[in-house]
Amino acid sequence: MNNFKLSQNKLQEWYVNHGRHDLPWRNTDNMYHIYLSEIMLQQTQVSRVLEEYYPQFLEKYPTLMSLASAPQEDVLSAWSGLGYYSRARNLHKTAIACPESLPKTQEELMKLPGIGRYTASAICSFGHEQNIPVVDTNIARVIKRFFSLLEPKEVTLWSHAKEFVNNNESRHHNLALMDLGSLVCLPKNPLCQECPLEKKCLGKSSPELYTQTKKKEYEFLELFYGVYIKNGKIALQVSTKKMYKDMYVLPSVEPIEEDLIGSFKHAYTKYRLKVNLYRVEEVNEEVIWIDVEKLALSPISSLTKKAEKFFKDL
Ligand code: ADE
Repeated sequence: MNNFKLSQNKLQEWYVNHGRHDLPWRNTDNMYHIYLSEIMLQQTQVSRVLEEYYPQFLEKYPTLMSLASAPQEDVLSAWSGLGYYSRARNLHKTAIACPESLPKTQEELMKLPGIGRYTASAICSFGHEQNIPVVDTNIARVIKRFFSLLEPKEVTLWSHAKEFVNNNESRHHNLALMDLGSLVCLPKNPLCQECPLEKKCLGKSSPELYTQTKKKEYEFLELFYGVYIKNGKIALQVSTKKMYKDMYVLPSVEPIEEDLIGSFKHAYTKYRLKVNLYRVEEVNEEVIWIDVEKLALSPISSLTKKAEKFFKDL
């Protein structure tokens, strides 16, 4: 019996009873659908992806080919509100690079835009059932604790994950580790008494593994946007800034206090923003005019969606 057999078996049994088996991307062999889910699930909660984005996106773009044929603007509109828009731009670029089918090896997948080691291994493990390890943030936490690794390098985590992988059931093993990380081996107050790996877990010898949480470093900014509406249309700009590249954004303006329409708070990635909206009647830079009524169909961020409440009845 190999060193890990007992733990692997217990993990497997736990997964059968407690795993999230109903997730649609776990019940398909469509590689594009699996790939899409992995991209959407980066930085985004399962419930949001499941309820608000994954089915809707697939309805609009059911195949790589349909995605490849769409204008980027429409793809960004389908991603509107989900954040981290480079994911949508890269998804689109990948579809254009391989409209028929995605490559089948980790190495080839990693040459495509936006596909790193995690995404490539997830596609190969969950989609092609290749016998390889997968390490995302949840799995990394389980591995760190199970092997008692304090501040390991990425390569160390991957090599321990490889050592631990169940060679006969690697897909289920990886999914089980993922679920264990998000349901039991929680960052704070983990539910060790419910953990199938508890007996063999070396983490208990390093209590700091249960209290270490990355300190969030926020950046506080105040933003000033102009609201310029003419004949039911609003002036927007195509962003050239990295964060919202190619999205439609409100033009930045110099604030004039008496023209203030309203202010609101907004959180986005590491930013904690105070957004101020001003009525303006000219904008120096180039603008595009969008029907206020049809704004929801445009590639706008959730910040712009929030701002809409202030100007839609002006
Ligand atoms: N199942 C497969 N991949 C997943 C992921 N990234 N998050 C949650 N469940 C998944």
